[in-house]
Amino acid sequence: KRVAILISGSGSNMVALAESMVGDHPARPVLVVSNLPGAGGLGRAEAMGIATAVVDHRRFAGDRAAFEAELARVLEAARPDILCLAGFMRILTPWFTARWAGRALNIHPSLLPKYRGLDTHARALAAGDSEAGCSVHEVTAELDGGPILGQARVPILPGDTPERLAARVLPMEHELYPAVLRRYAAGDRTPVFLP
Ligand code: GRF
Repeated sequence: KRVAILISGSGSNMVALAESMVGDHPARPVLVVSNLPGAGGLGRAEAMGIATAVVDHRRFAGDRAAFEAELARVLEAARPDILCLAGFMRILTPWFTARWAGRALNIHPSLLPKYRGLDTHARALAAGDSEAGCSVHEVTAELDGGPILGQARVPILPGDTPERLAARVLPMEHELYPAVLRRYAAGDRTPVFLP
């Protein structure tokens, strides 16, 4: 299976996914695309020998359809079978998500369906939750709303700040996403739960 990965920033999840696709793994990374030219993940992908591309959403001045048409064109050239959103921070319209239905995954730093959207760790802390975590889900038209394919939980500890909680969740993202992709690429939709 050919996997394309969409990023917007540091790309730590992209690195974890790319590093996992070795040996008898049924998938290989074929392209990393960022919506921002300065994304640190672009250099990390190039260092790993993975082709990269930039589709700068700012060039399309709010015209989501035009941005997505260019993104689709760049993706199609790489012929991916699976799309992994990894720290990708643009909302995709139903036009794009429908084209990738059943073939696109996203990782979100909360225990969905709680805390869809942004600032997930601050919201979990404000709510007094005893645990937090991350979820991998299929991408649908509903933001952070598709079927759950995996979750990883971490405890919330006294004195936690959003930064400390994020630092506890991120390593779990790097374990969860590759575990889900390995099954998904083999056609297995059984959800993964960690620990
Ligand atoms: C991570 O918390 C991820 O869950 C969120 O973006 C953050 C950075 O991801 N979507 P990455 O380091 O760019 O993969």
